[in-house]
Amino acid sequence: MAQRHYAFAVLPGDGIGPEVVAEGIKVLDRVAKLEGFTYETTRYPFGAEHYLKTRETLPESVLAEVKGMNAILLGAIGDPRIEVGFLERAIISGLRFGLDLYVNLRPVKLYAEHLCPLKDKTPEDVDMIFVRENTEDVYTGIGGIFKKGTPDEVAIQEMIFTRKGTERVIRYAFDLARRRAKQKKLLMIDKANAIRAMDLWTRTFDEVGAEYPDVTRDHAYIDAACMWMVKNPEWFDVAVVANMFGDIITDLGAMLQGGMGAAASGNIHPGQVSMFEPIHGSAPKYAGKNVSSPVATVMAVQMMLDYLGEARAAQRVEAAVMELVRTKRIPSLTTGALPTDETGDLICETLETVAVGA
Ligand SMILES: NC(=O)c1ccc[n+]([C@@H]2O[C@H](COP(=O)([O-])OP(=O)(O)OC[C@H]3O[C@@H](n4cnc5c(N)ncnc54)[C@H](O)[C@@H]3O)[C@@H](O)[C@H]2O)c1
Repeated sequence: MAQRHYAFAVLPGDGIGPEVVAEGIKVLDRVAKLEGFTYETTRYPFGAEHYLKTRETLPESVLAEVKGMNAILLGAIGDPRIEVGFLERAIISGLRFGLDLYVNLRPVKLYAEHLCPLKDKTPEDVDMIFVRENTEDVYTGIGGIFKKGTPDEVAIQEMIFTRKGTERVIRYAFDLARRRAKQKKLLMIDKANAIRAMDLWTRTFDEVGAEYPDVTRDHAYIDAACMWMVKNPEWFDVAVVANMFGDIITDLGAMLQGGMGAAASGNIHPGQVSMFEPIHGSAPKYAGKNVSSPVATVMAVQMMLDYLGEARAAQRVEAAVMELVRTKRIPSLTTGALPTDETGDLICETLETVAVGA
């Protein structure tokens, strides 16, 4: 059997990023030994400290370098000492746009009923995946502010959708709905009733959908989708959504699965280097306190392994987290529930004993 060896770029980032990433790597290390693959990491210092010392955010040369690796693991970016959004745009958006990571994949999966804030909803009810477009919409930065600070001020930020960008993400979502074979249903979430530009989404969804007769097409406006997610999460299977609405609705999803300490995402360009991260931010007030849940980052590692075709390793990590949460050895995924490092140790121990398929 060929040796499986991977090269990972690791960006721990700011705030709680370094401490949750340390646990993610601990878990990666243990599961690599158990499943017989090897890896090397290249650590990058980008984030607030590095910026304050050097004025450097994300050099172009690094984008070229990471293109030659298998995947990127990111902690979190953002620091109150620096203008809000500056580093986030330069580093997170820099990687997403620079590497053309056009799919933001967000599983919303509840591991234990007691973690869900909704009454009487079980893990069977909360098991959906969002496919969020990741390179267009209002995040392209096209726009600006004119006559700032005057009574005549004008602020414009363009919502941009291209046929190529819309089609490729919709196609990815149809493929996923087909592969996942749960309800074989794809829900498109938009706001085409108010945003005329979203007509492009509606037409593209129908045209691409005609190539997938085995996948049922469904539609909801973003406001109604938020309502249905709380009322009937069991109706959701795979959903495709544009960048900004996806940004918002996936935080709602994180709460349904147990909070910001639970949720992970993949920034994916199929077949190319892709980036995996917890969806939470740098939570600066908890930095260095060993109180944050590393589970979201561990699940980002799990998604990374799955993306790389290490299915058994991914199953093992998921099974370990699921068992610890269901037995309440990890009592909750909120701040202070269990020390960050102890949570990582528990997951590592449990990796050894969980059953995984062939
Ligand atoms: N991808 C990213 O790196 C990313 C994402 C979101 C926000 N940010 C940035 O992070 C900074 C802080 O943003 P924020 O306070 O709005 O959001 P945040 O996600 O950092 O924190 C919000 C709250 O979520 C909870 N939380 C977050 N991570 C947790 C964890 N691992 N375990 C348990 N609870 C957790 C905490 O209660 C925290 O106060 C800002 O600079 C923001 O721009 C970065």
